[in-house]
Amino acid sequence: TYIIAQPCVDVKDRACVDECPVDCIYEGERSLYIHPDECVDCGACEPVCPVEAIYYEDDVPEEWANYYDVNVDFFKDLGSPGGAAAVGPISGDHPFVAALPPQNA
Ligand code: F3S
Ligand code: F3S
Repeated sequence: TYIIAQPCVDVKDRACVDECPVDCIYEGERSLYIHPDECVDCGACEPVCPVEAIYYEDDVPEEWANYYDVNVDFFKDLGSPGGAAAVGPISGDHPFVAALPPQNA
């Protein structure tokens, strides 16, 4: 799967959403998150993010290694909705993201 790391927090450019052919990039309050089971690894999202927040799971910079779990665990309660557009913005974030001070301002 691809994952979204810390540069997205408080930026949420959303260019990635328009590129994803399977609509698996979900919006939280301060960040977006890629669904690990719905992502088909097409990679279309990665180059369009203006802040380079998106990485293939094996290529996540060390400082953001925990964002694999951040993306995966975000969906623990949601399950696999099968499409972000139908779900819409989700209130809240992964606890790690929620606890961050204001980012990227
Ligand atoms: Fe975030 Fe970049 Fe997408 S800032 S919303 S990962 S285009
Ligand atoms: Fe979508 Fe990016 Fe995965 S475009 S399918 S989230 S690699």
